[in-house]
Amino acid sequence: MGKSEMLKELEEECRKADMPLKEGATNLVFGKGKADVEIVFIGEAPGHNEDIQGMPFVGTAGKNLDKLLHKVGLSLDDVYIANILKYRPPQNRNPSTEEIKVHTPWLIEQIKIIRPRVVCSLGNYATKFFLAGLNPENMDKQPGITQVRGKVRELEFDGMKFKLIPLFHPAAIIYNRKLIEEWDKDMEIVKKEIAQKRL
Ligand code: URA
Repeated sequence: MGKSEMLKELEEECRKADMPLKEGATNLVFGKGKADVEIVFIGEAPGHNEDIQGMPFVGTAGKNLDKLLHKVGLSLDDVYIANILKYRPPQNRNPSTEEIKVHTPWLIEQIKIIRPRVVCSLGNYATKFFLAGLNPENMDKQPGITQVRGKVRELEFDGMKFKLIPLFHPAAIIYNRKLIEEWDKDMEIVKKEIAQKRL
């Protein structure tokens, strides 16, 4: 079975699974993009538009992300993108540790299928999840995104090796020119990393 069929199968399994937030949500927001990409972006949780369409990053944050990627010759079509949470939290509130614990095993399976070379974590939640060694219980102790953005780390998890590059969340930098400049610098690092050979 190819990677994209494996992802589809996993998505259908996830759709059937009982998990927190499912009941109040309209749609599962599993992930989007090609399965054979080298770079994966991970956000926090679906918002209103994502919940309605069942697709990640289709609202304002997604449009901004696409615009920011175009500046370095990339687009959302070149990456796979998913979230820490698979269903929208009510009123877009922050994810709870319990929700992260139940939702992230699906994300880990997605990453295991894709086997990306580079994982870009967007914002605090996604970044802390990876820095915590993919253990939600250890997320509290991790540094915030401002301290670690643009710093490349090699991570090894369950036989998988990839480079983690934390980035600001695209929704957080929309109207902040200073943060957009920092994002642009970080994206140069991302570009350099994807030009290198597999670890
Ligand atoms: N913000 C996220 O973190 N994820 C989405 O899918 C949309 C907005």
